[in-house]
Amino acid sequence: MTELEREIARRRAFAIIAHPDAGKTTLTEKLLLYGGAIHLAGHVRARKDRKSTKSDFMALEQERGISVSTAALQFDYDGMVMNLLDTPGHQDFSEDTYRTLMAVDAAIMLLDASRGVEPQTIKLFKICRERNLPIITFINKMDMPALEAFELLDNVEKVLGISAVPLVWPMGSGKDFKGYFDLYGKILHRFERTVGGAHKAPEAVTGIDDAQVRELMGDDAHAKFCEDVAIAGEALPQFDKEKFLQGEMTPVLFGSAVTNFGVEHLLSHLKELAPAPRPILLDDGAVLEPTEPRFTGFVFKMQANMNKLHRDRVAFLRITSGKFERGMSVAVPRLEKDVKLANPVAFFGQERTTIDTAYAGDIIGIISPGLYRLGDVLFERTGNEKPPEFHPLPRFAPDVYARIVLTDTGKTKQFRKGISELADEGVVQLFNLSEQTPLIGVIGQLQFDVFKYRIEDEYGAPIRLEPLAFECSRWIDAKDAAKAGRFDKIVTDEKGNPVLLFESQFRLRSFQEQNPDVTLHLHPPV
Ligand code: G4P
Repeated sequence: MTELEREIARRRAFAIIAHPDAGKTTLTEKLLLYGGAIHLAGHVRARKDRKSTKSDFMALEQERGISVSTAALQFDYDGMVMNLLDTPGHQDFSEDTYRTLMAVDAAIMLLDASRGVEPQTIKLFKICRERNLPIITFINKMDMPALEAFELLDNVEKVLGISAVPLVWPMGSGKDFKGYFDLYGKILHRFERTVGGAHKAPEAVTGIDDAQVRELMGDDAHAKFCEDVAIAGEALPQFDKEKFLQGEMTPVLFGSAVTNFGVEHLLSHLKELAPAPRPILLDDGAVLEPTEPRFTGFVFKMQANMNKLHRDRVAFLRITSGKFERGMSVAVPRLEKDVKLANPVAFFGQERTTIDTAYAGDIIGIISPGLYRLGDVLFERTGNEKPPEFHPLPRFAPDVYARIVLTDTGKTKQFRKGISELADEGVVQLFNLSEQTPLIGVIGQLQFDVFKYRIEDEYGAPIRLEPLAFECSRWIDAKDAAKAGRFDKIVTDEKGNPVLLFESQFRLRSFQEQNPDVTLHLHPPV
């Protein structure tokens, strides 16, 4: 193995998908605790503060602060380099989530043990499915009253249509949750709580028939536990790594992020099961191997003003092949020039650190004053080879629209800069840009609030948003624009492509019936 192959083989890039409140923030923090990136849990954010201000805009800022600090975290674990990407929990940011999931090789699906699969879990799961991402399921909050383990497995299978195979079997639940039996290693793991879950939970391993265990559980509960373990071991399908890698089967772990039970096991399974950086099928049919020495990567996330003092912008880059070295020059096809990557950073907890080298599978941040755009391809040019043709990052037709009115005309410059930068970040989509009052379109209402807050706070341009009565939109081919214009509201996107806005799904359907020759597109032309 070459040094490059060795380094790439020890990279893991993954995201946690969860319905809000399932415990994603808590689990992230505990992964950092076990990865040694923080030494005391309880620091990633002050959750209680967030609650008390939930209703005002500060909450947005704080929320953003959190997602920023965890947008791409890197930590070491047992010889591995783990890259954990944050997926916004709120459903309004589905596009952002989609882009993030294009930058990982595996996902942890986090469920609340008292709720099982929830609406946002389903949406995120579907995106993972489309990408054939391998998913490890972590059933959290076992320290609270929980559904039966069999019921939870059944719920995952029925609702998501994926085979759910337990790797461990929980020992009790609620206040009696003491650990679990490893169905494959045939070992019982017992945990102890620490105050506030701030430190790693002490763990003891023993056999299932240990007299102490029986005493701890009581004879009846122990007998039931042994019976369930036997059924789980014999009657349920066996774990099949190939099926997992194809995204057809999910291994299931049980635990409690708040008390740290099961967090270490989750990490060791990520190490053993989650794939190293995967080859990428390019649009021209070629396969990009991560071990190809030539450096390539793409920008999947932009974040402006991460540091208010510096007013800089960070482009998050997934390295897709080769080795990155600080100061290297890379080609950016969209810019038609080479740029020097002088300022690469990685994020550890809330710290950002300049890095000298990185490999395929890593996520790095490039700080620049607005040079990059979402979807930008960066690659090392050795001759005059053509750039890798990645599948374009998806854009979806927005469901909510508003007209943006600048209320202080003295701030036009700031306003224009703000809308264009926030659109580059993917916060909103812009329409009719050349007009005095452009339109913005978003996937969900919360994005309006974020947009208004940020344009006023970060760019000093006060605005009023006038919601428009459109509920859906579709791109159309330029040749159809004249025809379509007679029937419905037509606008142009940032690239000048025509978009039709509809007041309801019903209007959209009737338009389609009346104009069978006009093709409606959910995504913009590439
Ligand atoms: P999210 O990012 O997915 O939205 O979830 P977050 O981690 O914020 O957790 C949501 C709530 O669930 C928090 O409680 C958190 O403490 C709790 N929680 C997370 N994991 C576990 C677990 O394993 N067991 C139990 N019992 N609770 C868990 P909160 O009341 O909103 O905040 P706090 O006041 O407890 O900090």
